[in-house]
Amino acid sequence: MKVADLELRPATLDDAAFVADVQTEVHPDDPVDPQLLRHFWTLVGPETTVERFIASLNGAPVGVATRSHQAWAKMPERFGRVGMELGPSARTAARLDALAGAMEERSIADGTTKATVWAWEHDALELGVLSGRGYREERRQRFWELDLVANRERIQKMTDKSRARMRTDGIEILTLARDTDPDKFHKLQRMSDEAESDIPTTVPNVPLAFEQFVLWFKSPGLHEDRIWIARESDDIVGVSQLSYPPVRGVVATDWTGTARKVRGRGVARALKCETLMQAMVLGVDRVRTDNDSTNVPILHINETMGYTRRPDGIQLLKEL
Ligand SMILES: CC(C)(COP(=O)(O)OP(=O)(O)OC[C@H]1O[C@@H](n2cnc3c(N)ncnc32)[C@H](O)[C@@H]1OP(=O)(O)O)[C@@H](O)C(=O)NCCC(=O)NCCS
Repeated sequence: MKVADLELRPATLDDAAFVADVQTEVHPDDPVDPQLLRHFWTLVGPETTVERFIASLNGAPVGVATRSHQAWAKMPERFGRVGMELGPSARTAARLDALAGAMEERSIADGTTKATVWAWEHDALELGVLSGRGYREERRQRFWELDLVANRERIQKMTDKSRARMRTDGIEILTLARDTDPDKFHKLQRMSDEAESDIPTTVPNVPLAFEQFVLWFKSPGLHEDRIWIARESDDIVGVSQLSYPPVRGVVATDWTGTARKVRGRGVARALKCETLMQAMVLGVDRVRTDNDSTNVPILHINETMGYTRRPDGIQLLKEL
């Protein structure tokens, strides 16, 4: 497919490493791990539509364009997502615009009525292109970083308090590896789905099928002995996990959630503390996290743990 002066061909899983390199070159402060991206590309349910293309210029690969959406039966508002990136030497407004246009066209053709796209708040080139195409800011994702050297004592003290509180409250904090319950992944999924549906969002969350949920936990960045869960008697009532990029990047929170019935009792803070204590033991000097900018409880937890803000991610929306 020809798009402006670029030639597009469908991407394969083996292209994930190239795309991770391109994204890292364009935004070196947010390195993308090739193995994590490859694994992410496999987390696609059979009903989900995902198209990824590698863009080449004069025969050499220079970028990527994507579009995706959930099955319309599960997404009646017909939101679809588009994305595009080009390496620094090929990254012009005209080409980004052409790639966005091509992805919108394909999205319209299969029924998408609202397109969303994510961009960094400091990416003036891409924001300019998107604004010119009629996209408007819809919501922000707040990104944070925690210096584990400077905050060592604070986290240690918070962990001591949290451990005492969990003991008094009868909540057991352990790693997923240590949990011998044969039903643990089903319990974890039920709890995670409930929590995920409480994240403020514009595009409704569609829960993963069980097979995809289990595959998520096989990410090369996750380890069962670094996934912290909370149990109250027979139930799993919370989870927090850091993803450790195997090739490049910064260790970052992959997911934190608690069951509605335990909220406000310090479970999320206790779990996050354990992930950080373990990261320090493993020699990690800083960690990152991100959350919706209107998600009050997690904003409060992150602030009080000592996380400092990084640039926001912006989600933009356009009616097609
Ligand atoms: C965010 C979430 C994990 C917090 O779980 P939790 O177990 O209730 O968290 P904790 O009890 O440890 O801490 C919640 C803190 O937020 C505070 N808080 C909760 N609601 C608040 C509000 N509306 N305004 C101000 N503070 C609030 C609590 O007082 C508590 O602070 P404290 O520790 O200083 O007392 C949980 O609400 C959840 O699963 N939400 C859906 C999934 C999600 O958003 N995940 C995180 C982002 S991906």
